[in-house]
Amino acid sequence: MATRGSSRRPLPPFTVVIFGASGDLTRRKLIPALHSLCCAGFLTPGQELKVIGAARTPMTDDEFRARLWDGVAAYARLTPVRCAAWERLTSNIHYFTLDYHTGDSYAALRAFLADLDAERGVGPGHGRYLFHLATPPDLYIPIVEQLRDSGLARSEHGWTRIIIEKPFGTDTQSARHLNEVLHSAFPEENIYRIDHYLGKETVQNLLVFRFANAIFEPLWNRNFVDHVQITVAESVGVAHRGGYYDGAGVLRDMFQNHLLQLLTLIAMEPPASFDAKMFRQEKVKVLEVLRPIPPERVGEFTVRGQYEGYRTEPGVAPDSQTATFGAVKAHVDNWRWEGVPFYLRSGKRLRTKTTEIVLQFKRAPHLVFRRMEDRPVPANRLSFCLQPDEGMHLLFEIKTPGLEMVTRTVNMEFHYGREFGPGGLADAYERLLLDAALGDPSLFAHCDEIDRAWAWIDPMVQGWEQGGAPLEPYEPGSWGPEGAARLLSADGREWQVYCGDEQHAR
Ligand code: BG6
Repeated sequence: MATRGSSRRPLPPFTVVIFGASGDLTRRKLIPALHSLCCAGFLTPGQELKVIGAARTPMTDDEFRARLWDGVAAYARLTPVRCAAWERLTSNIHYFTLDYHTGDSYAALRAFLADLDAERGVGPGHGRYLFHLATPPDLYIPIVEQLRDSGLARSEHGWTRIIIEKPFGTDTQSARHLNEVLHSAFPEENIYRIDHYLGKETVQNLLVFRFANAIFEPLWNRNFVDHVQITVAESVGVAHRGGYYDGAGVLRDMFQNHLLQLLTLIAMEPPASFDAKMFRQEKVKVLEVLRPIPPERVGEFTVRGQYEGYRTEPGVAPDSQTATFGAVKAHVDNWRWEGVPFYLRSGKRLRTKTTEIVLQFKRAPHLVFRRMEDRPVPANRLSFCLQPDEGMHLLFEIKTPGLEMVTRTVNMEFHYGREFGPGGLADAYERLLLDAALGDPSLFAHCDEIDRAWAWIDPMVQGWEQGGAPLEPYEPGSWGPEGAARLLSADGREWQVYCGDEQHAR
């Protein structure tokens, strides 16, 4: 596998234009990430980077900058206390009041960008613009159409790229329509769909673990792996996002994107190089062979739950049937994974926040030793702690000290914090914004991934809406509804959690 190119090459002048800049994402994620990139020397404000925040709310540059300062101080990995980039960055941040729906606004924005370019010696037709849609999703299509019609989406001798946040539609049909509109303005290679899980260092480490170590790959298949578990548990509820969440539910909010991304990284074939095209093609191939779960069979392969108290959250319907927890037994129908179930679960208000992938290997075929607790020899397990306390665990048997020949499971672990010190892991947005500026879409979702992911999710959503799987209530702070445990126990298996403080089966 080819290594990724060095990220420290100097960039020609470019401008990040954030639509929806008065919102939370800009303050909590985007500007703090740009600030950390400047601190770490990956971007230089001024000659290289300028930032325009565009939104409806009228604001002066100074008001906008003051708002961003709080966000940077509170959320940046490299805070202003630790580096001196803020002053230089802030003087290169501007605010532009914009009406999202009128052409005049975009014509004025175009002129504004041209003036900023001229100050940096960038001539007409040479502008490089990274448009970031940090708005509510109902504005995506109008903004893209305006960028297309105003000519902002084109730069004859420079480049234009667009970053778009999930949700990418709410089903196959709406996602296709969104992609069509995007393609009417930008070629696919200039569209950067963010799944922030792909920006997480530990998610990228799955690739390094698999494809930079020769000893694991021979085991990575149906001959050695018994099953795979992917848990994305959150301890928080829907908080102030009840209005959005109640229309979405866990399948659309978490499975269509994050859980499927994790599944593809575990299941994909090694790409010949870490080239965006090859890498994303391999992921698409996995999505294409995910065994469909038709609406009439959701009761067999899925479990859905809702935490107690959800219906009284702000913005949530008092008789809501929306699932805040889901568990799915999936199959990847190809040579490598035939017969290996992938159990996925995700939910809100669960016992703890943890994102973990466990590969359980097959048991030793013949038992010659007695185990300490008089239990059968457990299988070896490899667990990836994607967050928090990022790291990994390998569980295997040892002889317990003493004269008897009895065995016990031990846990060999590696954690980033202990190895590299705290605060070393870049925020997902740092990686993703830098890659978009460098023109590397590898860690962004291709339209084919979005399409295949919806094709797999849609029938399940339909089955759930038709009541094909009962909506099971669960207690906040638990591991979800009983049905989730039954999904595995029916196969003689149980959920495992090794990350954080939880280190035992659940
Ligand atoms: C978002 C979902 O995509 O991911 C949220 O919309 C969820 O509902 C969040 O809370 C989880 O992200 P993370 O990085 O905290 O695991």
